Amino acid sequence: MMTDTLPPEAVFSERDEAARAILIANDRGGYTVPTAGLYPYQWNWDSAFAALGFARFDLNRAWAEIETLFTGQWESGMVPHILFHKPDPGYFPGPDVWGCHGPIASSGITQPPVALSFAPRLLRQDPDFGAERFRALFPKMRAWAEWFLRWRRDEKGAIFVIHPWESGRDNAPDWDDAMEGVDPQGVGYYERRDTQHVDASMRPTKYDYDRYIWLVQRGKRLGWDDAAMAEGNPFRVADPTMHFILLRGLRELLIAGDQLGLDTGGLEDQIAALEEGAKALWNPGMGFFDSYNCNNGIWSNALTNASFLCWFGGVSAPEMERHLRRVLDAAPYGVPSLAPFDPRFDAKRYWRGPTWAMMNMMIGEGASEAGIALGEEVRQRTQEVIAKYGFVEYFDPMTGEAAGGKAFTWTAAVWLAWAGKEG
Ligand code: DGY
Repeated sequence: MMTDTLPPEAVFSERDEAARAILIANDRGGYTVPTAGLYPYQWNWDSAFAALGFARFDLNRAWAEIETLFTGQWESGMVPHILFHKPDPGYFPGPDVWGCHGPIASSGITQPPVALSFAPRLLRQDPDFGAERFRALFPKMRAWAEWFLRWRRDEKGAIFVIHPWESGRDNAPDWDDAMEGVDPQGVGYYERRDTQHVDASMRPTKYDYDRYIWLVQRGKRLGWDDAAMAEGNPFRVADPTMHFILLRGLRELLIAGDQLGLDTGGLEDQIAALEEGAKALWNPGMGFFDSYNCNNGIWSNALTNASFLCWFGGVSAPEMERHLRRVLDAAPYGVPSLAPFDPRFDAKRYWRGPTWAMMNMMIGEGASEAGIALGEEVRQRTQEVIAKYGFVEYFDPMTGEAAGGKAFTWTAAVWLAWAGKEG
């Protein structure tokens, strides 16, 4: 343990120790798996949260997590959503299904770039310790951001995803309309592994999986070439998760880069472009931030936990505070991934209802930064649900009951970095 890099106020409760033990048990040497069995590789945004957890007790290890993630970066700047460091037959779809040729066997899509915000956070914790490491990562982080702006920005300026897995919110209602437009003919036989680890009622359906795999097969057929995949792409959905997280990342890079005297040229314009693009995500009929199918303009009309990432992205919207109050009143263990008053709500099915601690952290912190008292309420509810039901993947927002994978890295990390803190 790097005692010299411990935050001075660090005091560990029994629950903190349990969270630490999860991070240590899920550590595979330079990277952390989200949970053994269900997710046996390095996942992009899970890893960034892991870094925040490690930063509570081992800042050196925290930096290593993000550095390992960037060893998988493609020449295009894209950082894959999964890095298959060591083969594991317990997961499907593995490296052969993806057929990618990056520096490390990987998937061919990306994931929300929370690492762009979290590396500056590690730097803030100990600027002397982190300066050189941040400097080395800075051009790589900028290249990733630029890749998003080039290949994942639609005509209206909103950031979109080309696969539900790219958003990280796999089976959210946001993708329903675009998924209907995907005809999974010829997808062939495959064996799901996720439902061997977790009850099928808590996972996406076969309807979804056929389309997930079909989209992977399409990417593979096109050699994961960005230009080729953009042609006639059947799945392009503008996504508040990606948009607000990227916007936050750009803001953080600008501040940290300026502090270290790095070349931040262009960042201000990129931030301004995404601030403008955020307007495209405002659903005027529903009065909240929403996703839409870029191919036909159809809104999801879904008030999700991603809608509330606006504050994390530094975008203010007075109406969203009222919506947050409404969903918290409806879901005692919120923030639910879909508002309970939406007919598509399903309390235990992954991203169609459950509460996710890491989303709560981004929502709660963002709201608090914007001076909204509900941010602290979100933190306290997250603390309560984890304290009662453990470090699991997600929670039933109505009863708090544990769901999904157990001994989960990002829930433990969020406890250490935010939810478990006093006051
Ligand atoms: C899975 O396998 O369920 C993952 O969410 C894909 O990233």
